[in-house]
Amino acid sequence: MQTGLRGRDLISLQEWSLEEVETILEVAAELKRDRALGKPHPYLRDRVLAMLFFFSSTRTRASFEAGMAQLGGHAQFIESRTTQIAHGDTAKEIGEILGRYNDGIAIRHVTWGEGNKYIREVASASRVPVLNMQCDMFHPHQILADLMTMREKKGDLRGLTIDVSWAYASSYQKPISVPQDLVLAATRAGMNVRLVHPPEYRLMPEILDQAAENARRSGGSLESMDDFDAGFRGVDVVYAKSWGPLLVAKNDDEGASIGRKYTDWITDARRMATAADDAIFMHPLPADRNIEVADEVIDGPNSVVYDEAENRLHVQKAVMALTMR
Ligand code: CP
Repeated sequence: MQTGLRGRDLISLQEWSLEEVETILEVAAELKRDRALGKPHPYLRDRVLAMLFFFSSTRTRASFEAGMAQLGGHAQFIESRTTQIAHGDTAKEIGEILGRYNDGIAIRHVTWGEGNKYIREVASASRVPVLNMQCDMFHPHQILADLMTMREKKGDLRGLTIDVSWAYASSYQKPISVPQDLVLAATRAGMNVRLVHPPEYRLMPEILDQAAENARRSGGSLESMDDFDAGFRGVDVVYAKSWGPLLVAKNDDEGASIGRKYTDWITDARRMATAADDAIFMHPLPADRNIEVADEVIDGPNSVVYDEAENRLHVQKAVMALTMR
């Protein structure tokens, strides 16, 4: 267990050592147990987290805010469009100023080509830890919850096979941060990763290079495929979700037009039946129901999506307690 995490930014999970990630998961399990037992754990009494959103959220906002209250502190909800960011406050000014009012700054900024850069600029100007609530490249708190959930359901992840697949959605061009971070974390955990997507939906080459290196070090593997059905066969974990063709499309309309070529990429019971009998279905939510995944799967016995969403709370409390004290 690593105890020197005070003041650390969490922008990409890959920048934290395996031992540090293990520490977060251990503390998260303890906090989850304490909450189930009704045992108070006010590790951040009088501390304040600024939560700055450039994009909508349900789970991330609600779980960070609830988590800060349960730790004895407070969370400020700040939207970029209703602040002077809309009139020119810079990333440096946000880091300097919110860092003086608060004990941590959490940011969601998913705009392609901008989000990660913005969060790093804030972090370099901030005197307090900066936590990535999802950017264009990474979603570390989602992936921590995913690791916790897979461990709870499956035990040791080494040698298990996960299908990280694209699926069709019509609602919006979703960021590629979840599949990118998941492929990194799963290869690091020694899993056999099937990355499945139509050709237009490729991930950033440097992420895939890093994932291949992770797999080489951990004894896991990384295989890329473009056959949706083949991705399901025999796997232990199905993690099929939509993302935009961000490396290819010039705008959302072009992205939507590309997506309409693959409307049959939906996780349904027939496909789930080809996975291992005890395979779990995961999704970070929100999902396009009966477009991206059928109700029979997301509401079925193999779905763990609500436990997965709950674990956002516990892992984020662990990160905040470890970094903001
Ligand atoms: N999974 C996730 O990040 O959910 P929200 O977009 O609702 O925060």
